[in-house]
Amino acid sequence: MNAYIPPFPIRPRQALPPLALLRLARRNLLAIWPEETFSKPVFGHRLFRKSVIVVNSPETVKQTFVDGAALFEKKSSQQRSALKPLIGDGLFISDGETWRQRRKVVAPITHISRLPELTGGISAGAGAQLAAWRALHDGATVDALAEMAHLTAGIICSTIFGRNLGAEAARTIVSAFGVYQKLINQMDVLSLIGVPDFMPRFQGFRIRAAARRIHKALDKLIGTALVDDATETSLVRSMSQAKLGSTDATMDRTAFRDEAAVLFMAGHETTANTLAWAWFLLSQDPETERRLHVEVDAVLGEEPAKFEDLRQLPFTRAVIEETLRLYPPVPLQAREATGEANVGGRAVRKGDLVILNAWLLHRHQRLWDQPDTFLPDRFMPGGSGIPSRYAYVPFSIGPRVCTGAAFGLTEAVLCLATLARHVRLRLQPGWVVEPVCRLSLRPGERLPMLVEHRR
Ligand code: HEM
Repeated sequence: MNAYIPPFPIRPRQALPPLALLRLARRNLLAIWPEETFSKPVFGHRLFRKSVIVVNSPETVKQTFVDGAALFEKKSSQQRSALKPLIGDGLFISDGETWRQRRKVVAPITHISRLPELTGGISAGAGAQLAAWRALHDGATVDALAEMAHLTAGIICSTIFGRNLGAEAARTIVSAFGVYQKLINQMDVLSLIGVPDFMPRFQGFRIRAAARRIHKALDKLIGTALVDDATETSLVRSMSQAKLGSTDATMDRTAFRDEAAVLFMAGHETTANTLAWAWFLLSQDPETERRLHVEVDAVLGEEPAKFEDLRQLPFTRAVIEETLRLYPPVPLQAREATGEANVGGRAVRKGDLVILNAWLLHRHQRLWDQPDTFLPDRFMPGGSGIPSRYAYVPFSIGPRVCTGAAFGLTEAVLCLATLARHVRLRLQPGWVVEPVCRLSLRPGERLPMLVEHRR
């Protein structure tokens, strides 16, 4: 059995003093967790007048995110204020009745049962990416992170607005979102660990201006998508037909735009980061790469992978699942308590933050065998599997679980299979990869890799 241990930040020997913690957290949220936190079931700190409690065992995750979901359904107030200018009441940050109504509209449209009709856009996007890479000379350098972001942005746009509008939409929306995200990145990192926003890190005016530009682009695209070819599958069309609650009312245009923005925001960088990490891991582990090649060569011909091929790609799927374990794109999920509770023996008061930390849970020394090692075989039929469904949470768990989990997983598998059938990526010699989390977990700002054509 191979035993490749991919990079992770040095773990402090003990808890850091508050100022050192804040300084390090601003640079990399993965670097602040002392070694001992990888074996604790639950722990917490008082940070400014709030308690921040990290749920770090299957029991405490179930207690808060599943059984106690009603008490812990609210996102942190900082997260809400950062995203509100862009997504309004959108599903990702709403709670209470608004969240329940929106969830009923959004969850079914990317439900697993709809994948056969939605995955055409994935195959088409992967096919176009492959054509672009095949046109490069052998050894050409690409930024795998940027390339995967471009690929998944194109796929989500064609899924939201329909294939006809997809390419145009991707260009407009990606550049507008880029500006917004940079502004948010500067201010919101500390919010995830509970630092209140008394520090002037919220650039309200510039954020609102960037949001207005995105809204204008989205309004135009939604308008066109709805009058465009009525037979085309698109999430916007499905949303326009869905009923709100038990009445006959449908969502109004603003709600619509908010949810389109949520789907774009939640639905592309996560999959892009997963794919970028998978390329990196394969480039460092020749035996896993060889086995992946054997599988895709046996299943695929010249055409991009399709929904029907999924069943025959268990190892490709296992590689993606293990990638999501080691490098979960959304490692920290924070919730604000709306009442009092006792979590794993710790008192939680209204306003306290509870954090589900997939970075720790997925590498927990008491739960996983060889927690830091890249072992896709865990996820193969007959493999050791996951220790508990509350210990493997790349898509979160409970009522707020990712609505696009099946779509995102399928997308990552189909894209990796299509591209790996013809191309391998090598890390640029001398380049050092360090996992960094600000809002999402990435292999740094860039991932330069060399394209090699497989013969
Ligand atoms: C590998 C890909 C993906 C990963 C790892 C991922 C992960 C997550 C996580 C961890 C959350 C919960 C965040 C929190 O509670 O703070 C979430 C929420 C969400 N995701 Fe995903 N996601 C992925 C792909 C997608 C895709 C493709 C879509 C849409 C097509 C999507 C739509 C959403 C939505 C709408 C929510 C909010 C759900 C709610 O609050 O009720 N995601 N995702």
